[in-house]
Amino acid sequence: VKRIGVLTSGGDAPGMNAAIRAVTRVALNSGIEVFGIYDGYKGMVEGYIEPLTKASVGEIIDRGGTILGSARLPEFKDPDVREKAVQQLKKRGIEAIVVIGGDGSYRGALALTEMGINCIGLPGTIDNDITCTDFTIGFDTALTTIVEAVDKLRDTSSSHHRCSIVEVMGNRCGDLAIWSGIACGAEIVITSSTGFEEGEVLERLRDLDLIKKKRHAIVVISEKITDVHQFAKKVSLNTGFSGRATVLGHVQRGGSPTPTDRVLASRMGEKAVDLLMQGIGGQCVSIKDNQIIAVPIEEALNTPRESRKKLQNLFERLV
Ligand code: F6P
Repeated sequence: VKRIGVLTSGGDAPGMNAAIRAVTRVALNSGIEVFGIYDGYKGMVEGYIEPLTKASVGEIIDRGGTILGSARLPEFKDPDVREKAVQQLKKRGIEAIVVIGGDGSYRGALALTEMGINCIGLPGTIDNDITCTDFTIGFDTALTTIVEAVDKLRDTSSSHHRCSIVEVMGNRCGDLAIWSGIACGAEIVITSSTGFEEGEVLERLRDLDLIKKKRHAIVVISEKITDVHQFAKKVSLNTGFSGRATVLGHVQRGGSPTPTDRVLASRMGEKAVDLLMQGIGGQCVSIKDNQIIAVPIEEALNTPRESRKKLQNLFERLV
């Protein structure tokens, strides 16, 4: 392979820049030219494609976001749209692509591979919702952001005998919630796996107040489960705590990546280039038991997520 492209797609994640840098530098150091494709698959279709140099990926390892920009393009499911993208690549002699993004981006990568453009997926999302990998690029940084925020909320909640309900991202995946719940010593964690029984949570909060005499209560809850502002009002009405809701929102997607995310992105970027050099496509890079491995994209999309029961049990044993 002589020329490859790299793009970021879907929701951005801290560490995407470190991955772009790794792909670019490992490839250039192996004699392969690298092109940056801007704004995800949209830029591929529209031909927004520029060469990358070692210098153009300098001073980005510590930057959040993605220098290539990102977009979601549902139209990429359409074979005619994909054909346009393939023509743009062929015109420039680009033979293979590294796609950094979530599972939606992997579908596009698989479809392109089937059309003759070898693609390798790198898991770039804060949600940690890609099966076959223990961690995604961006998860550790988002977790760190949440932990910092919840630590601050605990200070003020204790002063005012409040219950802080903190809504965290994750799409349908509860990892950010359960990991931050453990790391912050939260009183209650609610995810799609734990389920949400409002009456039961209010009962637990009354117990924390009346029996356990807690000065504060932290409830970490995954997004897309309930309206946390409404729930905070119910906490104020039905328990001894006054309820306050905080939606951390897109703050979780930004910021300088942690060293863990930078190193993970660099290791995964290297693997992606090595696979393309071997003429391999249709695979995604994963970390399993601290080993960087390649998994067929089809397998990554169709394997059910491992149960998080052990972490949930640990959380329950710590409260
Ligand atoms: O996939 C990353 C993520 O931040 C999810 O956690 C969240 O549900 C979604 O993207 C938000 O999407 P948008 O940035 O389009 O509002």
